[in-house]
Amino acid sequence: MTRIVSGIKPTGSLTLGNLIGAIKRFVRLQEDMEDTEFFLFIADLHALTSRQIPHKLRKHTLDVAAMYLAAGLDPEKTTLFIQSEVKEHAELGYLLQSNTYMGELERMTQYKDKSSKQNQNIISSLFTYPALMAADILLYDADYVPVGDDQKQHLELTRDIAERFNHYYHDFFKIPEPIIPKVGARIMDLQNPTKKMSKSEDSDKGCITLFDNEKQIRKKVRSAVTDSYRKIAYDPVKQPGIANLLNIYAGIREEKIETILDMYEDKTYKDLKEDLAEVIVAELLPLQERYHKLIKSDTLQDILDKGREYAQNIAFKKVRKAKRKVGLGRK
Ligand code: TYM
Repeated sequence: MTRIVSGIKPTGSLTLGNLIGAIKRFVRLQEDMEDTEFFLFIADLHALTSRQIPHKLRKHTLDVAAMYLAAGLDPEKTTLFIQSEVKEHAELGYLLQSNTYMGELERMTQYKDKSSKQNQNIISSLFTYPALMAADILLYDADYVPVGDDQKQHLELTRDIAERFNHYYHDFFKIPEPIIPKVGARIMDLQNPTKKMSKSEDSDKGCITLFDNEKQIRKKVRSAVTDSYRKIAYDPVKQPGIANLLNIYAGIREEKIETILDMYEDKTYKDLKEDLAEVIVAELLPLQERYHKLIKSDTLQDILDKGREYAQNIAFKKVRKAKRKVGLGRK
């Protein structure tokens, strides 16, 4: 049996980047893969790496769960749960942190980027959180971890930590492989297409959230930064704005970039933007409708309860063994 594990941090509103780079990808894998168990969690402990407003964190946590289901996640096939409700994540996180080197954590680009934006009071878990992320994955003996491009380095570190643990304590963890989509692994900010579209950014003009209304979507796409080449081509270095729009288009439609390029070869930037806005609206409005039904329902709560029980059962056994391995416990 193959196992697939992934998570999303509930900070701010989910973006088109999360939808294309992670959520749709997960739903597709679930439809395509047989004999596979899927674990998906809302990484609320990871949200605490930056200061959160408690009632908002609670709301975003449920929002992510409901959005996953609204996007087509099948709760019969997937164990959906909230990370902090399975306490073994934190427990194994500590054991793995105790097998991670400062130098490794210092090299993490996400840490470097995020900490460089704050000049004081950087929360220490921002530094150590890759060890917790390793625990999220290794707890379930994941074979594959579908993520966007920005998580690749954390996945590499997870593999290193697992290999080190296996070396010191004899084979214990499965070494996971990342699955990074060919299209849409890095959706960029519409106003600054050399920067990742991110839910924690302040400027929201360049970021389409999954909760934006039709008017906001059209406006943001219309004002997306392009270039003066006046040619629709896929060149992320010379034409990052246009490349990003093509990526979003292809990512939502689940098509190849070439297919979209063929459709727009002789068209203008304005044509591309108008059609893309249409494609996004057609994707997000029904998603929002399903989300609104789910967020108020008992179904969501039941699914999360069931997910917690199932995940807890596996996690408990794995942590019990891990503690024994490192020498904790009386016998
Ligand atoms: P997070 O919450 O920042 O992002 C969740 C997922 O969305 C992807 N993503 C993007 N993909 C394409 N373009 C973008 N602009 C974009 N922005 C985000 C991310 O790559 C990710 O797949 N630490 C993780 C959450 C996590 C996790 C895990 C993931 C915690 N434990 C274990 C996998 C396995 C995070 O902060 O992702």
